[in-house]
Amino acid sequence: MTVRGSWIVAVALGFLVMGFHGRVGAFPVDGDQTTLPATTELNEDALDKPREVFRSEAVGGGKSYLVNLGNLAFSSSGILGGVARQAGVSCSTCHVNGASNAKFFIPKMSTRPGNFDTTGPLFNPKADNFVLDPIRIPSLRGARYLAPYGHDGRMASLRDFVRNVIVNEFSGPEPSPGVLDAIVAYIHDIDFLPNPNLGPGGRLTGQISDAERRGEALFLKPFPHDPAQSCAGCHVPSAAFVDHQQHDVGSGGLFKTPTLRNADFNVPYFHDGRFDSYDQVVAHFDRVFDLGLSTQDRRDLVAYLTAVGDGVQPYEHDGAGAVLKEINDFTTVLGTAIPANDREVIALAVDTIGSELRELTERYPDRKNTSVSGGQQERGLARLALKELVLTLRRIDMAAAEGRVSDATFEYKNYRYLMVAAVPTLLAGAEPWSLFNPTVHDAHYAALRQVLQTRHTAR
Ligand code: HEC
Ligand code: HEC
Repeated sequence: MTVRGSWIVAVALGFLVMGFHGRVGAFPVDGDQTTLPATTELNEDALDKPREVFRSEAVGGGKSYLVNLGNLAFSSSGILGGVARQAGVSCSTCHVNGASNAKFFIPKMSTRPGNFDTTGPLFNPKADNFVLDPIRIPSLRGARYLAPYGHDGRMASLRDFVRNVIVNEFSGPEPSPGVLDAIVAYIHDIDFLPNPNLGPGGRLTGQISDAERRGEALFLKPFPHDPAQSCAGCHVPSAAFVDHQQHDVGSGGLFKTPTLRNADFNVPYFHDGRFDSYDQVVAHFDRVFDLGLSTQDRRDLVAYLTAVGDGVQPYEHDGAGAVLKEINDFTTVLGTAIPANDREVIALAVDTIGSELRELTERYPDRKNTSVSGGQQERGLARLALKELVLTLRRIDMAAAEGRVSDATFEYKNYRYLMVAAVPTLLAGAEPWSLFNPTVHDAHYAALRQVLQTRHTAR
């Protein structure tokens, strides 16, 4: 989130901002300021975040301990190795709220926004294959229906895949079985966004346009020169539009059939992210399979794909309420881990929630930030309240580390009390002058870009 941006403004202006654990910002600056190269784009200041839908919540329940722990670990750079950890990169940096990050870009690791070379030199030099072969960052919505895993379908087990990401791609320490199970439980709980256009068996339903109806017929129709094949033969409508197989569709190798559900939000398309639109994808299939599609056929297929790939409310505005909800979900983990004296989980939770709270704090610019005027007192109070939460967390951590379970429990109660009684009101009071306000947000980042530009041209 914005800690990085604000951090750099502060540094550029010659101020020092609190940096617990000596964490370094990952916002693009010169190589000597951060572990990530200049012109890196993580898009962490986006005001609209992909909406996340949980299966457990959709069926009327709450998320389990395991799912909350998994979500927490997924947002933690602490489970990854050196470079990722220092830069504050976590699973959720790329898979934002379980969806994809279409703007993500790291020079020499990406060839376009939205893709990333998992066998590149940056995060684990030992895994470097010395070829720039980035893969588009996939959405994990509905991942439980989409085995095998990886663009090439190389792993049947999601658990093996996740372990490999942590240990080999991001040189993290061997995760404990409990944390690994939790991440898998979390990914299994991420649902597709509902799509009212889709009825039983993945057929279009409700008010369908003529173009969509014709598109669906084309999608189901055998290919003229190879009647054994059709779009639907690989993208099976009744099976989340996949067949769990790898195919050569003329894109340079064997790749697994990707889902078409919620795919409107999965740009760029194909394993390497070579296509920006359904138009381009349809033109590719037309050419490779010699389908002889008319202009109208193509348009109809695109209309159909757009209807299938839709989802209800794909983005939601990021505000203090949304951030606090996530932090509160993460915090429930402590309610289980403290009485169980599970120090590994307590340490992970304190570390992760602590950095979320610090990022949230930076959304309420301090007095020294000149791109915001007004609401000084409100901003100050919001920052103070969040700081108090961070200090309370540290007391929980210390008490737990020393085996003082009742002290940790006491501090946890304090934390919960603050979180209910004071924090939401104080944050709401400061919201107009926070970076959650689009006007303030844009002014802040415009000033930031200018500072960066001046620095770069001055070199
Ligand atoms: C720097 C960006 C980045 C980070 C950080 C990242 N991923 Fe990924 N993820 C990718 C890319 C790129 C792929 C595609 C790789 C492939 O197919 O081989 C991918 C693929 C996946 C897949 C396979 C999905 C499918 O349908 O095949 C899963 C599961 C996954 N990541 C989980 C995670 C988890 C868990 C973490 C954290 C431990 C994580 N990722 C961190 C970029 C990232
Ligand atoms: C032989 C199996 C097969 C057939 C037939 C097929 N596809 Fe695909 N489709 C794939 C595979 C495999 C990919 C991924 C290619 C890659 O990653 O390079 C893909 C990718 C796509 C994508 C991009 C999705 C994304 O998220 O990247 C769309 C859209 C799509 N296909 C639509 C269609 C349409 C429309 C047809 C019929 C004209 C069709 N497909 C026919 C297997 C198939």
